[in-house]
Amino acid sequence: MKKIQISPSILSADFSQLGNEIKRLEQGGADMVHVDVMDGHFVPNLTIGPPVIKSLRKYTNLPFDVHLMIDPVHKYIKDYSDAGADIITFHPEATENPLETINLIKSLNKKVGMSLNPKTEIKAVKEYLDKIDLVLVMSVYPGFGGQKFIDDVLRKVKNLDQIRKENNLNFKIEIDGGINFETSMIAIEAGVDILVSGTTVFKENNGDIKKNIKILKQM
Ligand code: DX5
Ligand code: ZN
Repeated sequence: MKKIQISPSILSADFSQLGNEIKRLEQGGADMVHVDVMDGHFVPNLTIGPPVIKSLRKYTNLPFDVHLMIDPVHKYIKDYSDAGADIITFHPEATENPLETINLIKSLNKKVGMSLNPKTEIKAVKEYLDKIDLVLVMSVYPGFGGQKFIDDVLRKVKNLDQIRKENNLNFKIEIDGGINFETSMIAIEAGVDILVSGTTVFKENNGDIKKNIKILKQM
């Protein structure tokens, strides 16, 4: 079986203890840390920006998987890179020129992700699939943790997996939103490589992060 990676979202962490929460993720076997950046405009919620990410950088060597839900996004890419992001994921709707944004992220030596909202179809990223490192398939409407998984997006995961195989491409498929011990299984079956999880990792089994990550990875 292929190796599944877990990217816990700190949106469900205790925000007054973020440094310690990130250490707990590392001890619990997380593969990376998913950082949800929201601007109160592209999505109806507001979270954290570069200074907070920068201050968290010293707490772990795990890669920071930074999910930018901000519009416009292009002019802020460098700030997130400088703050310590390792993977920078943007939504194609939030930039005038996706290719320029991809090239900017690459020029900063960071991995590039593009994200598909539940209503955004694969054609929004298709022409870039040979240039990017991952596609982040949203399985909830971005903005909040703890929402219900939208099954319909599995169709896009399967399609992306097929495109990847047919064209010998290497991008990873990451899924974000409503991942629990059941939806994780159907997502993996559909072709997902990386699971984002906020609520399940931080809250299930009385917050036993190690156990929750193990179950999600089907270990
Ligand atoms: C939603 C965020 C997700 C979210 C996942 O806008 O992008 O990363 O925090 O949280 P859960 O796992 O609780 O759905
Ligand atoms: Zn996210």
